[in-house]
Amino acid sequence: MNYSVVIPAAGQGKRMKAGQNKQFLQLSSIPLIIHTLLVFEKDPWCREIILVTNQEEKEVMKNLVHDFNLQKVNDYVMGGSERQYSVANGLDAIKDETIVLIHDGARPFIEQAKIHELVLCANETGAAVIAVPVKDTIKKVTESKVETTMERSSLWAVQTPQAFRLSLIKKAHELAKQQSFLGTDDASLVENMNEVVAIVEGDYLNMKLTTPEDLLFAEAILASRKGKE
Ligand code: CTP
Ligand code: MG
Repeated sequence: MNYSVVIPAAGQGKRMKAGQNKQFLQLSSIPLIIHTLLVFEKDPWCREIILVTNQEEKEVMKNLVHDFNLQKVNDYVMGGSERQYSVANGLDAIKDETIVLIHDGARPFIEQAKIHELVLCANETGAAVIAVPVKDTIKKVTESKVETTMERSSLWAVQTPQAFRLSLIKKAHELAKQQSFLGTDDASLVENMNEVVAIVEGDYLNMKLTTPEDLLFAEAILASRKGKE
């Protein structure tokens, strides 16, 4: 079952404190964004990759894609000031109705079998996201005081990829724009239309590299995978 994927990589990586966009940080001597792109390059179901980049980083990205001989990057789209706007620009580059995945450039460990499970689910339901049960107890806090303890059994940490019918997610982005609604992920824009979003249980290893210590975890994951090859 074929799909297109939009990969937002047009952030600043401020929380990583690396002095550059974290997409270019080396993990086992390969840039983070290349690890992510390779997952989709290798997936036979992936028909095309739309890469969303900062305008001033477009040439560097193009050179990397060329150096690593990636064939599926079909379009380079300019990022926006918020992730949501970057994704919206990416979606505009896809014309024909399809299942579209949206996947953070900073999340390199998603596995092909999980992508396929997600795509099949989105094809049935229209919208599906990868998520894992929350392990910690989560409390709602106001001014350093606990307001309430959330019921953990109903809490899930949502990751990417998130998969949608293209027409549905485009409509959701358009409505959000009209309403000036800024969601923290793409599924929340679909929820904002009162449409159902299905959950596909994912894997704790599908981490997003956000803060400096995440680099340690990422190197450890790569080392453990290398041992299995
Ligand atoms: N992203 C994007 N456009 C933006 C903001 C983020 O394309 N305006 C991308 C990032 O490049 C990343 C993904 O969305 O691949 C998830 O965002 P996040 O982890 O928050 O990355 P950054 O925004 O780069 O990091 P930070 O928030 O720490 O600055
Ligand atoms: Mg960010």
